[in-house]
Amino acid sequence: MTGVNEIRSTFLDFFKKNDHEVVESGPLVPRNDPTLMFANAGMNQFKNVFTGLETRPYSRAVTAQKVVRAGGKHNDLDNVGYTARHHTFFEMLGNFSFGDYFKERAIELAWNLITKEYGLPEDRLLVTVYSQDEAAAGFWKKIAGLSDDRIIRIPTSDNFWSMGDTGPCGPCSEIFYDHGDHIWGGPPGSAEEDGDRFIEIWNLVFMQYEQTSDERLDLPRPSIDTGMGIERLATILQGVHNNYDIDLFKALIAASEHETNVEAAGAALGSHRVIADHLRSTSFLIADGVLPSNEGRGYVLRRIMRRGMRHAHLLGAAEPLMHKLVPTLVREMGRAYPELSRAEDLITETLKLEETRFRKTLERGLGLLDTATDDLTAGGQLDGETAFKLYDTYGFPLDLTQDALRARDISVDTDGFDAAMERQKAEARAAWSGAGGAATEAVWFALKEKHGATDFLGYETERAEGVVVALASEDMEIEKLSAGESGFVVLNQTPFYGESGGQVGDTGEMLAAGLKATVTNTQKKADGLFVHSVTVEDGELVPGLALELKVDHARRSAVRANHSATHLVHEALREVLGTHVAQKGSLVSPDRLRFDFSHPKPMDDSELATVETYANEIILQNAPVETRLMAVDDAIEAGAMALFGEKYGDEVRVVSMGTALHGSREGKPYSLELCGGTHVKRTGDIGLVTLVSEGAVAAGVRRIEALTGAEARSYLDAQDKRMRAIAALLKIGADDVPARVSQLVDERRKLEKELADAKKKLAMGGGGNGTAPIKDAGAFKLMARTVEGINPKDLKGMADEAKAQLGSGVIVLINVAEDGKAAIVTAVTKDLTEKVNAVDLVRIGSEALGGRGGGGRPDMAQAGGPDGAKADSAIAAIETHLSAM
Ligand code: ALA
Repeated sequence: MTGVNEIRSTFLDFFKKNDHEVVESGPLVPRNDPTLMFANAGMNQFKNVFTGLETRPYSRAVTAQKVVRAGGKHNDLDNVGYTARHHTFFEMLGNFSFGDYFKERAIELAWNLITKEYGLPEDRLLVTVYSQDEAAAGFWKKIAGLSDDRIIRIPTSDNFWSMGDTGPCGPCSEIFYDHGDHIWGGPPGSAEEDGDRFIEIWNLVFMQYEQTSDERLDLPRPSIDTGMGIERLATILQGVHNNYDIDLFKALIAASEHETNVEAAGAALGSHRVIADHLRSTSFLIADGVLPSNEGRGYVLRRIMRRGMRHAHLLGAAEPLMHKLVPTLVREMGRAYPELSRAEDLITETLKLEETRFRKTLERGLGLLDTATDDLTAGGQLDGETAFKLYDTYGFPLDLTQDALRARDISVDTDGFDAAMERQKAEARAAWSGAGGAATEAVWFALKEKHGATDFLGYETERAEGVVVALASEDMEIEKLSAGESGFVVLNQTPFYGESGGQVGDTGEMLAAGLKATVTNTQKKADGLFVHSVTVEDGELVPGLALELKVDHARRSAVRANHSATHLVHEALREVLGTHVAQKGSLVSPDRLRFDFSHPKPMDDSELATVETYANEIILQNAPVETRLMAVDDAIEAGAMALFGEKYGDEVRVVSMGTALHGSREGKPYSLELCGGTHVKRTGDIGLVTLVSEGAVAAGVRRIEALTGAEARSYLDAQDKRMRAIAALLKIGADDVPARVSQLVDERRKLEKELADAKKKLAMGGGGNGTAPIKDAGAFKLMARTVEGINPKDLKGMADEAKAQLGSGVIVLINVAEDGKAAIVTAVTKDLTEKVNAVDLVRIGSEALGGRGGGGRPDMAQAGGPDGAKADSAIAAIETHLSAM
């Protein structure tokens, strides 16, 4: 028997031998195509290569592509479990030529592979061609020797393949396998073609055109795109007829039988198949970054999961089941798709959480459903109100309710369901407009309601395509934004992070043919609407336009590093200061991070140094940064830090990094926080973190600022340069700088003191004979002097000394500072204070100096004046006053 893994490698090897580049599957969430919910064909990732927009270093490629057909335009969800060939997830094998070989070689390669390598009997094969494609028919005849009756010409769009309403397209030729006349069905084009006898296995598309919204253009070079469902091929090679009987599904179903103890037979068979199929799509979606939510892709994932979980419940599983099957899936498919192995823990946890939570309402919901449909018989219909209640209160997606009633042939009134949904939205609308939302907010709520939340792709990628769903000015929706204008853009999906949780919004650009717009900011509005602030440089933005979106990579990388570092600093603060440290606010920008936290007093240097050391220890661990989705309560119980007063949904992203190295948590995850921000892949990506300031913001709240990566380096670099400049000035090594500077400071202090003393001495002793000049002024001896460069504080001390020297008399000292201002001190020896008052004298002096007042005691007074040049007049005025007494 040929297993699925061998079939895949045979395909890849065959084309590799024929000079094809083996290219990894594109992600399930297409980066380059905003019109697709999930990858639906192998050619998705090459769309722009076909049209010539993008070039690759190879012109032939081969892939095994992951495909999900649920939720979008192709939706097979409802059929899974009931038919032999429908899947929500499957693998498409394909070979591609980008302007290299065309029809003839493509047919030759395909024929050789299926008949020689896979050994399919030629007489079981037949093909279709587009009715106008004589060339293709001719090649089949020539290469495969097929008779005319086995080359069926189909005139319909069945044989003209296009990816969607727009994009590369062309006529195609399909290879069919005849499973034998014991099975009902007719060849393609016949009335019985829908039977299961003739099954299409491989579609060869001769890509020749590009369909734009209004015309069909020739592609620059004719190309080839093919697609073969691996599961269908496996049925043939394994001699079975139902896709669910191939080795891969048998292994998954055996695991599910083992876990439930229910044999895959009778009524249980369909449930086992649903579980096996849904396990694949959910696991691969989670591995590609989709997590369950109530919007967009996340809701499709949730619908698939819950549908599988209801079937687990139908099988009587007492415990959550799906997560237990993940190891089997990883064993079967993890080699070919390493992303599945890498995400094994995340898949397991996400499935377990979802199933645990859903089981809480599942049973009660099913009870309600039973009661509501008690009276209904086959052909009956469940009312829309009840279906809506199941959706709203019990978490039953509509298709789950439909699936649950299918066996009894009861349908659901979907119009009634929609009406109930609409009524609830109207109530919500009334609630927010009643809440007095500003006009601008009203615009966002209206847009959110009309278009749903924006799908955020930015955890996985910084580049993607998106379609403009609406444009707005400050307070209203607008039709277009032209060159030179600024406004707001809402897209169906975006890699731009909307400002929240302290992290700034992304910037970057939006491009399309003839259009360029700069994104200056991105904000989150109305609970999930991403609003881009843009300025159009060239061209015109209109709704419906598909754009290439590019986040400013360098800026975002810096933001990521700062955000992850914030988590590390937060934990390090708790480790060093204690668990009373709680986040009070944060700002994560490209150039720095700021973190406010509760702590009653300033941090000292050693605390700061330890925080820095601890945070850098985790950076050096280069540990992977892991993100999981958890129930809020579970996350908090696990010790995740949450912000009080912050609103969280039922489920939260939990970001963990590093392993604690000290204390009671040693060996456990270092940082564990609820966080919706974007983070580095590994802690080493932060580079390093350095704290640059610590201070108070409010009573009991401190603020730390820090830098990471290149910013931290240039900060430290600048510090180092300064240090080296200092060392060079001192002509010593950098290590000796602190001791030398401290020594210099001491010396300077000493010298200053000596200098002041010297100046005083000089001032008082500058009269030639070592004393200040003494004159007679009336009945008094007057010692008066103007000095410079004396600290005014010292004047009184000098006056005291002069008094002692003089014995009996009056002293006047005026210091003229560098700026020309004067300070004056007058002193009178004790024996004279009855006659002369120093305060009167200082007033006279001060007035002469252009000042006013002054004060002191009868024996000592001081004042100032702006006009130091008048010092001599001041002394003269005092002298005159004394002489006149
Ligand atoms: N792109 C082609 C298909 O999906 C091969 O069928």
